[in-house]
Amino acid sequence: MTSPKAFLLAILGCAFLFSGALAARALSDDSAMVARHEQWMAQYSRVYKDAAEKARRLEVFNANVKFIESFNAAGNRKFWLGVNQFADLTNDEFRATKTNKGFKHSPMKVPTGFRYENVSIDALPATIDWRTKGAVTPIKDQGQCGCCWAFSAVAATEGIVKISTGKLISLSEQELVDCDVHGEDQGCEGGLMDDAFKFIIKNGGLTTESGYPYTAADGKCKSGSNSAATIKGYEDVPANNEAALMKAVANQPVSVAVDGGDMTFQFYSGGVMTGSCGTDLDHGIAAIGYGKASDGTNYWLMKNSWGTTWGENGYLRMEKDISDKRGMCGLAMEPSYPTK
Ligand SMILES: *[C@@H]1O[C@H](CO)[C@@H](O)[C@H](O)[C@H]1NC(C)=O
Repeated sequence: MTSPKAFLLAILGCAFLFSGALAARALSDDSAMVARHEQWMAQYSRVYKDAAEKARRLEVFNANVKFIESFNAAGNRKFWLGVNQFADLTNDEFRATKTNKGFKHSPMKVPTGFRYENVSIDALPATIDWRTKGAVTPIKDQGQCGCCWAFSAVAATEGIVKISTGKLISLSEQELVDCDVHGEDQGCEGGLMDDAFKFIIKNGGLTTESGYPYTAADGKCKSGSNSAATIKGYEDVPANNEAALMKAVANQPVSVAVDGGDMTFQFYSGGVMTGSCGTDLDHGIAAIGYGKASDGTNYWLMKNSWGTTWGENGYLRMEKDISDKRGMCGLAMEPSYPTK
């Protein structure tokens, strides 16, 4: 006779095996999901090394699609998610490959001047979009290289160069990746925007994107590049102060560090990102404006470096003026900008 306890264990064990087998069969039999994955692979030119890897990626893809669909179905949100180029990556893999593993908080922030401190908030325009003023180059794609810090610093530099000289010049992130080995900057392994500004100053400027093209990999520094644009210095926006950040962004694009590791960041597709978010700064982007959505939500307009298939054609709007002084995803913690 079987004891009740053994019987119970047997059922649980059986149920576990059964549900596992069911899940595996259901997924490979889910021809709609298999077809959707195939179509997605074609769209993003994804190739897997063997059938086992493809089956594993199908599982991750399926889980992500389900997450995205249930998030969007909740219907009570100001933003939505989409099946983008990161749809076959688990969130752990996404964090490891896309964000800045080496993003380190500046150990000791040296106080710098803040030239916009006496700007009156009331005198600022209600909406700023530096794209409409021709101060933003097209969206770039950092690929499988953790050098968001270079893209963020370059976007802010391109902005101040356009504002002060009238010329919009796409500048080289690769020159920073290869040649800026000072401070915390370590190419594809991470870095800091302020250290990038320091390098640009010491280097006598940066060369053009086309003169030193992006390779998404660490490379040997090609010295003797012609400088196409220079900066004189850089300043940190007072920390944890969205009003101060607004004064700066009203005057120029600003480099901003955020916690970009959440699944909502991974699959952000449009709208104003709201809600809870971490403050573990691991990603560099650029604040290129601000405004108010039709439902009254204030937002920051951000330029990202994950190509145009992510977000709003590569851009992101994040809620502005939240109760947490650090800002959404920590965006007000370490903003800075170059000066001319
Ligand atoms: C702001 O105003 C104060 C008081 O007038 C002045 O001391 C300070 O230098 C001003 N700051 C800037 C950046 O102009």
